[in-house]
Amino acid sequence: MDIISLGPGFAAELRGVRVAEVASDTAVYSAVRAAFEKHSVLVFRDQDVDDDSQLAFSRCFGPPEVTKVGSQGTGTHFVILSTIGEDGKVVPADHRLALRNRANQLWHTDSSFKKIPALTSVLSARIIPARGGETEFVSTRLAFERLEPRLRAKLENSFAWHDYAHSRSQIAPDLASPEERAALPPQCWRLVWKNPVNGRGALYLASHAYAIEGMEPTAGKKLLDELMAAATAPGTSYVHSWRSGDIVMWDNRATMHRGRPWPAHEARLMVRTTISATAADGLETVSPSSLHAAE
Ligand SMILES: [Fe+2]
Repeated sequence: MDIISLGPGFAAELRGVRVAEVASDTAVYSAVRAAFEKHSVLVFRDQDVDDDSQLAFSRCFGPPEVTKVGSQGTGTHFVILSTIGEDGKVVPADHRLALRNRANQLWHTDSSFKKIPALTSVLSARIIPARGGETEFVSTRLAFERLEPRLRAKLENSFAWHDYAHSRSQIAPDLASPEERAALPPQCWRLVWKNPVNGRGALYLASHAYAIEGMEPTAGKKLLDELMAAATAPGTSYVHSWRSGDIVMWDNRATMHRGRPWPAHEARLMVRTTISATAADGLETVSPSSLHAAE
């Protein structure tokens, strides 16, 4: 397996690995897992991928999420990201699918608004537009390490509230449906997620984050905005240009990402599987109950 660096201090392409091998060979899994912990974003090119092989690969990393209410693929282990309507045609710009796609273009980490946040997301390209439609990543681990030590210490003991309806309201006030709001109440997580394998902390931020626990709302929002700006500063991102056969996986504990626009009349179809974080991934250390446990 060759590891080729892609981004500024994070993200790597793994060459000489078939994702099918990861599911069938524990030594291959161990090598990929070590690269995942270190590089945060992994790219596999020229893969033969379908839903079954993607899910088998993803399951190696932990329990797969069941897709939430209101998303394409609800009730399955797959999230279908597309702007193709039921009639097979690309939907108009004011269609819910198009608006959701715009929300996906805000910097975020997947599933921070869920009761169990995600360790990793695995995304495969099925239909790609001729240009645009890239996925852009930043390392919130490197962003955290760029901060002043005093601010780092403060953030390690701070908690932020995440709400799906908040990120969607930045695109349209009613984009999160009543069913989604009921199913997805706000969640509170430590602002720094420490990787239990290498001990490195990462800012745990997203477009879903709207408040800091115990902070006056305006001051909390201002700090979140400043941290988001610092984490996404120019020159810190890796932009993945999709090719047919690509699979990209990322560490939701240590990165943020956003979709990039593409010509609205062109089809794009991506399939995501998402793996929930477990205690081995540091889940308990970001839970607010860890505060009480320490007291
Ligand atoms: Fe995402």
